[in-house]
Amino acid sequence: MKRLTAVGTCMYFLILAGALSCAPGRMWGQTGKATAGTAVSLTEAQVLDRATKLLRQMTLEEKVAQLSQLPGFPAPEFMETVQRKPEEILKQFGAGSILWVSDPKEINRLQHVAVEQTRLHIPVLFGLDVIHGYHTIFPAPIAMASSWDPKMVEDAQTVAAREARAVGIQWTFGPMVDIARDARWGRMVEGAGEDPFLGSAMARAQVWGFQGRQPGAPDRVLACMKHYAGYGAAEGGRDYDSSYVPEELMWNVYLPPFKAGLDAGAATFMSAYMDLNDVPASGNRWLLTHVLHDTWKFKGFVVSDAFAVRSLVIHGYARDLDDAAYKAFTAGLHMDMASGTYLKYLPLEVQQKRIAMQQVDEMVLPILETKIRMGLFENPYVDESKMAGVLNAPESQQVARRAAQRSIVLLRNENLLPLDKNGKNVHSIAVIGPLADTQIDLLSMWGSNVEPGPTVTILQGIKEKVGSAIKVGYAHGPNLRRTFASPFENIEIIKMKEQPEQTPEQAKQAAEEAVALARQSDLAVMVLGEIDIMSAEAASRASLRLSNGQEEMLEAVVATGKPVVLVLVNGRPLDINWASEHVPAIVEAWYPGSQGGNAVADVLFGDANPAGHLPVSWPRSSGTLPLYYSHNLTQAPETAPDFKSRYWDIASTPLYPFGYGLSYTTFGFDNLKVTTTARVDGTIEVSADVTNTGSLAGDAVAQLYIHQRAGTASRPVRQLKGFERVALEPGAKQTVHFKLGKDELEFWSPSLKTWVVEPEQFDVWVGGDSKAALHAEFSLTE
Ligand code: NOJ
Repeated sequence: MKRLTAVGTCMYFLILAGALSCAPGRMWGQTGKATAGTAVSLTEAQVLDRATKLLRQMTLEEKVAQLSQLPGFPAPEFMETVQRKPEEILKQFGAGSILWVSDPKEINRLQHVAVEQTRLHIPVLFGLDVIHGYHTIFPAPIAMASSWDPKMVEDAQTVAAREARAVGIQWTFGPMVDIARDARWGRMVEGAGEDPFLGSAMARAQVWGFQGRQPGAPDRVLACMKHYAGYGAAEGGRDYDSSYVPEELMWNVYLPPFKAGLDAGAATFMSAYMDLNDVPASGNRWLLTHVLHDTWKFKGFVVSDAFAVRSLVIHGYARDLDDAAYKAFTAGLHMDMASGTYLKYLPLEVQQKRIAMQQVDEMVLPILETKIRMGLFENPYVDESKMAGVLNAPESQQVARRAAQRSIVLLRNENLLPLDKNGKNVHSIAVIGPLADTQIDLLSMWGSNVEPGPTVTILQGIKEKVGSAIKVGYAHGPNLRRTFASPFENIEIIKMKEQPEQTPEQAKQAAEEAVALARQSDLAVMVLGEIDIMSAEAASRASLRLSNGQEEMLEAVVATGKPVVLVLVNGRPLDINWASEHVPAIVEAWYPGSQGGNAVADVLFGDANPAGHLPVSWPRSSGTLPLYYSHNLTQAPETAPDFKSRYWDIASTPLYPFGYGLSYTTFGFDNLKVTTTARVDGTIEVSADVTNTGSLAGDAVAQLYIHQRAGTASRPVRQLKGFERVALEPGAKQTVHFKLGKDELEFWSPSLKTWVVEPEQFDVWVGGDSKAALHAEFSLTE
């Protein structure tokens, strides 16, 4: 086999592990110490006591093994460094964790090795990327953030945790909470978008979903806040490229979702790959020790991203692997993911007295404590016989369908949607596009590469919805391919694949067939966007165009004069400038997951009223990136009467603003009431009425934004500081209430180098997006 890159290797093992069959076997809790479902309840003092006693018995090598996460297979990078198979290490010294194994039989087998064959019988933590589902796949994180519904997100991740735990995974590498303000960056799809307030709400919800309120429950997994920190600021949106983020932006924008996850109880963090201000995140003392340990008092442990300790040499930061181990460890990184660098070099570092045993003990302790809290010593094994029941629970599919319905964003609707499913107005529909009948591409990268169950395609969802009332035709159109292949593409068993190569003639013919079908039909639903491999890790792009002839096919179908609904399946905003003027209805489905086809059909035919709102500002062109609503006023604010667009060739404003989303009904916001003044340590109360002014029931997302008019720093033109999704019957009105206290009003001042709430004047707006007009003022006093 071709030698794999670090990235490719990472995915290779994930997939190989996932591809193995799952068969019933032994009972969970077979050590006889506890029965299935028993949670371990110990006081923190008891946990510490137990961990300390264990630590006292450990040799240096056993301690270093706990600081190591072994690849589930002999990864080339690992083998090159350690020169022994991971399983041999496991047998001799144990391991902190193993990743990229998802077959419960294999998990139990390896756990038996750890528990029965090692001297101290310390169980292993099994980790996997269960990012938005394991078998039941939920919408991609950017989609779930579009729901503005943290409770729904918590419910989805609760199911994901239950399924993961049912196969023996105790630790997921999520949530991914990187703020992303540049749609060129492929990993925007994995996070909650551009805003720290929304991002923090989604971070909390996901941590609670994965872990529950208290880590250790038998149907939950440990959460991992990643990628710590600043990964989303990669220069030019190029994945893995350096990030340069000034301290005030770190504190005010990039770090808050991590802090929110930590406060919600997240047990672990993952350090990022890239250089942050010239110091790689995985060897960055400021991030790992100053912020995380000293300032935030994080008590859990940090794992590196895959092979990232080894990569410190590639970065040109460490001289060699020995130096890499030293730099990562002393920066505050507890566990080395898969590179074997700690295994090989930390013992030498201790022997040479560059690292003290006391330091090693401090790093091992939180890992042992986490295992104790998780109840792993009592219940190390998974009950394989229970797995099928959990994975196939029908209610999980309902959670997935609801999650997808609530995530869909209606971007444009010129009186076309919802369609009538009984064929009153339309007798035939042409479903067109390279994403219309694909399953795997609805799942996004992480969803398609775990062990997904059956997926409903959009074509299937539409057919199912209309039955025999409407004739449904289908044309694929041209195939979707990247100009440069993904590093994951070399790996045969990876499920994400490009569509087959076509000659220009074949692509042209496929588009012509689609146009012909549209001509013969009453209406076209065009499902366009990006296949999963176009939007994820190592999937950055310079242009946001509807690639591979999709734009041209769209324009040709519209030219037939038939009404067109554009459904987007994608992980980032795309260039839909033309469509935004010529296509009467545009629906953003993102990667909607296993039930995506049904949910899209529910929305198209009005069985669900869309209420998703954008978690990112939608750019007109990649040339305007990075783009975010929460920019500073500058000396030429865009609200000034003489403001001319900053570019002379294109408006610098977004096509659709942050927080935007339409409904089949309409909403009005009024009666804004605000405490007009409070002390800086006080609380401002805000309320407003939201009324459903249309004739259909629907959900509004009330959003509150503030602006501080002056202070020790220029403050953003608007900042989201509250939101609530409210369900309203036609004509119904609800008052939404928000509180603005220290958490909402403070910021890290670059002039004072500290957190402040300042005695200044503020604007406040409440409305349906970041352009909300309903306005009031308040001031804070000393
Ligand atoms: C690399 C990715 O950056 C990270 O998100 C993932 O959790 C690890 N590989 C483990 O698969």
